[in-house]
Amino acid sequence: MSSAFRAVQISDRVFWVGAIDWGLRDFHGYATSRGSTYNAYLVLADKVTLIDTVKAPFKGELLSRISSVIEPSRINYIVSNHAEMDHSGCLPDIIEAVNPEKVFASPMGVAALTGHFGPEERLTALKDGETLSLGNMSLSSMETRMLHWPDSMMTFLHEGGVLFSQDGFGMHLATAALFADQNDPSVLQFEGAKYFANILMPMSKIVEKTLSKVGQSGWDIRVIAPDHGPVWRQDLGTMIGWYQTWAAQKPTMKAVVFFDTMWNSTATMARVIGDGLSAAGALPKVMPLSGNHRSDVATELLDAGALVVGTPTINNNMFPTVADTMTYLKGLKPAHKIGAVFGSFGWSGEAPGHVEAALKDMGVTVIEPPLRVKYVPTPSDLDLCRQFGERIGAKLKEHTGT
Ligand code: FEO
Repeated sequence: MSSAFRAVQISDRVFWVGAIDWGLRDFHGYATSRGSTYNAYLVLADKVTLIDTVKAPFKGELLSRISSVIEPSRINYIVSNHAEMDHSGCLPDIIEAVNPEKVFASPMGVAALTGHFGPEERLTALKDGETLSLGNMSLSSMETRMLHWPDSMMTFLHEGGVLFSQDGFGMHLATAALFADQNDPSVLQFEGAKYFANILMPMSKIVEKTLSKVGQSGWDIRVIAPDHGPVWRQDLGTMIGWYQTWAAQKPTMKAVVFFDTMWNSTATMARVIGDGLSAAGALPKVMPLSGNHRSDVATELLDAGALVVGTPTINNNMFPTVADTMTYLKGLKPAHKIGAVFGSFGWSGEAPGHVEAALKDMGVTVIEPPLRVKYVPTPSDLDLCRQFGERIGAKLKEHTGT
């Protein structure tokens, strides 16, 4: 077996053996402009244990990194913390290559892996709070259902204090600098927030409960080893603090204004509304969908207090890109937002009403009736746009208690 790829030691007897996906640009609809990593970890205990695997095309990289430390056939146990395909895609091939004694997953993980790959007699459920003996080391499990799949669990290696946190505390960031302290903190904060917004935002309440459960576990966590992005071996409180902030979704004076436009009228309205918001003390983030991906809108929305949406009416409906982003955001369940809608139209103008209904359905508190302009905004229409932005800004001050 080639060991062209090498393992990286992260703790005493624990090695990172994952894969770096430098070219990943789309993760089921989430734009991953910096690529990603699929992290897997090898624990050299008496019972040699592999924590998670990688996305199927990266099987060779995983086996190569394992081979740089030990012969893969010496692996006794595989632990699957999360069944999603970026972590278990090559699991059947690895089981065949390694021939482990057992494969552990949460009870829901056993069901999920069986559902994906069919029956596997070595698949064994690890219950919440159960501790698995690896001989001279021990691994405890903590189920984290719906964080972010039903099967999700974290495992904690007591020797060395390593928390294998699966998607939790992760980010899509391809980097050869494995440790967080070797990376630019502003990049970590941005990509961590983007990951949280696009994957974990709907589960913010579960994140808060899990942070509390981890805090009460008594585990002496010295390393956080997620399934994506860098490993945290210093300043763990930084990442944990970010999670507390992101999960709280406390609204700020930021107002996300996203829109699309047919012949520039809705775009003109957006720009003037942004100016009005700014004059009222808000921090507008004006995002034309021609230049902003839905996942970037979600990222900005994470700490925003207001969501303002602009859409032309086309064939009696909202613009398709606006519908796309609205559908995406609805699934992410943003909390504590006020909102409003605007848009130009030619002859009917139903779209703002449709978006208003969608905002309400999303749980956004709509604070203004839709502002609609026929064809091209006149100077007096633009005055109304500015006042619209100023009123939203004033309401945002009340909303945030600023
Ligand atoms: Fe990284 Fe939910 O998979």
